[in-house]
Amino acid sequence: MAITKSELICDLKEFIQDELTDSVYYQELARMAPTRMSQELLMEMSRDEKMHAEWYMKEYCRLTGRKYKPDPVPPPVICNYEQALKQRILEETNAYEAYGKVYQSVCDPGLRQLFWNTRTDEAQHAMRIPILLHEMGVDCDIKVSHYSMID
Ligand SMILES: [Fe+2]
Ligand SMILES: [Fe+2]
Repeated sequence: MAITKSELICDLKEFIQDELTDSVYYQELARMAPTRMSQELLMEMSRDEKMHAEWYMKEYCRLTGRKYKPDPVPPPVICNYEQALKQRILEETNAYEAYGKVYQSVCDPGLRQLFWNTRTDEAQHAMRIPILLHEMGVDCDIKVSHYSMID
């Protein structure tokens, strides 16, 4: 089903804030990471999210003729690195689904490419998080992860 221009603008504002929030969140996780490899992966994810926000801001500007002024992102409070990573798998897969829906509801080739690219990055993030869990010596057994994520 097609999305209207005003719906898309509204979605873009939400996506920009989410992406900026995620970027800061991964930065904080990188600070807590137990290994150099984890730190580098998390910083790469943080940069990806910032880039997504910039792509969406560019699109917002193209559609509205106005520059989007993001709300300030409060610093994240992360108590448990492992739980935070598991939660991120859910968030990343949700973003993958959300961007996929927008991809299907727009006709403009540039917009479709944009949502395809961000969707691909979010899937890549979700698929890389088990590496981070493994790096901390966590057993990534799917059942164990599943039960602990839904409690
Ligand atoms: Fe993103
Ligand atoms: Fe992501």
